[in-house]
Amino acid sequence: MCGIVGYVGNRNCVATLLDGLKRLEYRGYDSAGIAVVEDSSLHCIKECGKVSVLEKKIGEEWPLWPEKACHIGIAHTRWATHGAPSCINSHPHIDSSGRFAIVHNGIVENYAALKRHLIDHGHTFNSETDSEVIANLISECYNGDIFAATAAALRQIVGTFGLAVISLEQPDTLIVARRGSPIVVGVGNSENLVASDIAAIVAYTKRVIFLNDDDIALITADRIDIRNIDNVPVAREIAKIDWSIDAAEKQGYEHFMLKEIFEQPEAVGNALRGRIDEQNITAILSGLSMTPREMTQINRILVAACGTSMHAGMVGDFFFEDLAGIPTSVEQAAEFRYRNPIIEPNTLIIPISQSGETADTLAAVREAANKGATVAAICNVVGSTIARESGRGVYLHAGPEIGVASTKAFTCQVSVLLLMAVKFARTRRLDRENAKAILDEVKQLPELIRAVLAMAENIRVVAEKYGSADNFFYIGRGYLYPVALEGALKLKEISYIHAEGYHAAELKHGPIALLEPKVPVMALANDIPGKDKILANIQECKARKSPVIATATVGDKEVESLADDVIWIPACSKYVAPIVTVVALQLFAYYVARMRGCEIDQPRNLAKSVTVE
Ligand code: G6P
Repeated sequence: MCGIVGYVGNRNCVATLLDGLKRLEYRGYDSAGIAVVEDSSLHCIKECGKVSVLEKKIGEEWPLWPEKACHIGIAHTRWATHGAPSCINSHPHIDSSGRFAIVHNGIVENYAALKRHLIDHGHTFNSETDSEVIANLISECYNGDIFAATAAALRQIVGTFGLAVISLEQPDTLIVARRGSPIVVGVGNSENLVASDIAAIVAYTKRVIFLNDDDIALITADRIDIRNIDNVPVAREIAKIDWSIDAAEKQGYEHFMLKEIFEQPEAVGNALRGRIDEQNITAILSGLSMTPREMTQINRILVAACGTSMHAGMVGDFFFEDLAGIPTSVEQAAEFRYRNPIIEPNTLIIPISQSGETADTLAAVREAANKGATVAAICNVVGSTIARESGRGVYLHAGPEIGVASTKAFTCQVSVLLLMAVKFARTRRLDRENAKAILDEVKQLPELIRAVLAMAENIRVVAEKYGSADNFFYIGRGYLYPVALEGALKLKEISYIHAEGYHAAELKHGPIALLEPKVPVMALANDIPGKDKILANIQECKARKSPVIATATVGDKEVESLADDVIWIPACSKYVAPIVTVVALQLFAYYVARMRGCEIDQPRNLAKSVTVE
């Protein structure tokens, strides 16, 4: 979704802002713009479409920018909410007096009333956006003190914001603020940066400060002054980012998604590192901060998540019930607070979120916390809002995930859920011998994933054979049912083929009516419990003349003889099969999308991190 970058310092900021915007492109956007202070005026250029189009426009309209003294600026990639994608609606927005430029992520819910009030007070508007209201509101509140004006404006806003402001009134000061939408300050030498996402600024500094809700920071080239909205100074720690810009670059891969698929052996290895206790045959998850006694008292688990993270949670559901015997359910985070969930004192809520910023998942965390539940999050992005508000949890350490379609986050989430379930199970009914068997296999995960990646070329051939279909079904059972959902989601997201993930047994309760020779079925037929039944489902599909592609355990002649094409998966237990198998489905979707010439890393209409409800 929308992205923010800002700079104040010794350098000409235009190139840094454009570089930052390019690093935010993965989040999904439809227009982009920058505003800088130059020679006592605000210079603003915006354009619909990609950052490269904006860059070209800047070159054409302002060819002399490299020679200019522009040391402070803000920039934005917009993903339309209020007002269609257009040049006028894109950010930055400048107030009608021409003194304040703002970029805004989030939604101003009461913008219509504020806009009426501002129009009555002589302000004029150019766009249909809610964000333009903020620029005029700051202008309206300005009385010689930029902090006071920003705070007064933000106090009137109902909704969410990650905000950056520059002004002609205080041209050496960049102001940022947040409520519900992330802002990170990058601490440099004689320069400071701001962004909505670390990826935009990690090339310049690894020292960052995460703002809390209702923090407002006044930033110059060599000073960062953070106060809360009531003007009380607040101390925020400087955190060190432990990944470098290489991790956010393609490194020779055609797409980020492909790079991230191939990174999974290392990513899962990192998620597991130091987390297996060989002596006690359990998992070490210190971030959970729970004693064995507290763990035994948990008698119910609710997982709240969206998209791919929800599918990971659905695999976790099997782990917790099967291994630990704890009744578990997975809630769509968007429904969580509206259905008045039953949360008892011994209920554990596990929000799962790669970004740690998904609005619906965050709302679920807040609802759970209000009801007094214990919350332990699984997040990838360190310092993200969900991670911080949950207080306890487990980080994935998967490194930045740039491709919009989530891949390595899923395999790491499921790996961490398996460790978590083993840890809970060891305080209950899982004996050393069985725990050891599972953990020994967990340690093999990087190798098992590598074995799937080694088949990439075969998977490409199969993908290209079926890549012109208009409809697809993915079917699975038990542990592989959520993987069927995830495989279908991957195909939909990046290839735009209509794909439905179904429980194999449900097929005959409706969708079977759609089967015909033009509708291929991906059947997850690995040799784990449930395989016999899936074989029967494959027969049902064949009888309707649907071509069947099957995932099967290496050497399985039975599946090979039934299916039209087979994607081979190394032999593994039901516990790790979801992790290993999904890698093949990620590759399958990737190669289909590539064959169809789709924009794989930034699929149409999708955003990496959905920060609105
Ligand atoms: C968006 C992304 C998905 C992701 C979902 C949840 O829809 O496009 O890939 O699974 O959000 O995101 P989260 O960051 O909470 O895991």
